[in-house]
Amino acid sequence: MSLLELDGVKVHFPIKKGVFVDRTVGHVYAVDGVSLKVEAGETYGLVGESGCGKTTLGRSVLRLVDITEGSVVLDGTDLAKLPGEEMRRFRRRLQMVFQDPLGSLNPRQNIESILSEGMIAHGVGKDQEERREKIKAILDKVGLPSNALARYPHEFSGGQRQRIGIARALVLEPDVIICDEPVSALDVSVQAQVINLLDELQEELGLTYVVIAHDLAVVRHISDTIGVMYLGSLVEEAPSDALYAEPKHPYTKALMSAVPVPDPEVEDRRERILLTGDLPSPANPPSGCRFHTRCPWARAERCATERPQLRDLGGGHRVACHFAEEIESGKLALTRPTGTEAVTEGEDAVVEQTEGEAKVPAVLLPADSTTKPDATAVEEKVPSAVEASGDRTADAVARDLDAAEPDRSDKDREKTD
Ligand SMILES: Nc1ncnc2c1ncn2[C@@H]1O[C@H](COP(=O)(O)OP(=O)(O)OP(=O)(O)O)[C@@H](O)[C@H]1O
Ligand code: SF4
Ligand SMILES: [Mg+2]
Repeated sequence: MSLLELDGVKVHFPIKKGVFVDRTVGHVYAVDGVSLKVEAGETYGLVGESGCGKTTLGRSVLRLVDITEGSVVLDGTDLAKLPGEEMRRFRRRLQMVFQDPLGSLNPRQNIESILSEGMIAHGVGKDQEERREKIKAILDKVGLPSNALARYPHEFSGGQRQRIGIARALVLEPDVIICDEPVSALDVSVQAQVINLLDELQEELGLTYVVIAHDLAVVRHISDTIGVMYLGSLVEEAPSDALYAEPKHPYTKALMSAVPVPDPEVEDRRERILLTGDLPSPANPPSGCRFHTRCPWARAERCATERPQLRDLGGGHRVACHFAEEIESGKLALTRPTGTEAVTEGEDAVVEQTEGEAKVPAVLLPADSTTKPDATAVEEKVPSAVEASGDRTADAVARDLDAAEPDRSDKDREKTD
């Protein structure tokens, strides 16, 4: 059994309307049936464009959002069914590193207080002396001086603050750390340092990660397995190298074809798959294959009516496409243009477009090297056309943390504040 197993996880947010009485008029299908396994000591990378449900899926594992359906099994225990108090105890074993390091750290607490907080809540360390020693050791591991203890978040750089965020997770000795866009708020020059730190810590401490990113370059080097999400579902999952070498789902193919190749000659010759249409709204997802409104190979008769399940095509390469084999062998003809004309001729699509709110174009930035990233490599990449959600405010993160520690009493707050 894997350390973490998600089976058919759905998170549907009700859409309420009404002045006096709230009526549910629909749902946002943020996560709509995700099954995946994360092995102990490995990294699962989750990629997908903005709004596809990555954060919601991560939060559902920690039960920071209600799970509508499905199970989340950590080390044999189904978290979706755990009563509140037991879930609170389990949260020590599942920690989250947030995108915005400043927003996720209380500016009024010094580092010792921030890092002690979770330890006190979970009964780690018998007294403050013992906790302090442990914090110092962890700060050292994440590359921060021990005099950081008495300092405040604003006194650190963005990269250092993310190290503090990582240290906060580590002091609780978690089994799984969910890193939600851990570097997208950082300068490109420090992104690689933080990714390398996560890598080193994993090797040293045997950590298990779920790394969420909209940028394929970030997850490529650190992930053992990568899952590609589209509109609340996984469309492809494979060992990292296999996914990059041979993407099989049309959506992943389109993402990969956006990879800028450093050689200008190859770059000029290489085939690009440009997608027609906008990302449909998760409140009104297309029927059948969710991708059929944009897929260059879509077949009206099957793709619009029958939802494809993830199928293993060999070697753990799972693809949710009815025609993956035919597309791979080149037997399936295109039904939509894939070149620059795709952008202008999207209206003539063979399969009728489902009406949906326009969002962002499906362009993610994959990596272009096969070695570990270094600062220069990350710096060289073209900025992604899809911005990460930069909308996590300090309040939002504070709410997350409060939700994660619902038992923290006012007295404790006063003490730590
Ligand atoms: N609490 C909520 N209530 C209603 N809808 C929500 C809620 N949280 C998220 N959503 C919606 O669910 C969908 C998925 O959001 P989510 O934040 O999980 O996407 P994401 O893949 O993390 O995107 P990004 O890359 O921008 O962070 C979005 O359409 C979002 O608007
Ligand atoms: S099932 Fe049909 S629409 Fe979906 S990805 Fe495959 S070919 Fe495209
Ligand atoms: Mg997100």
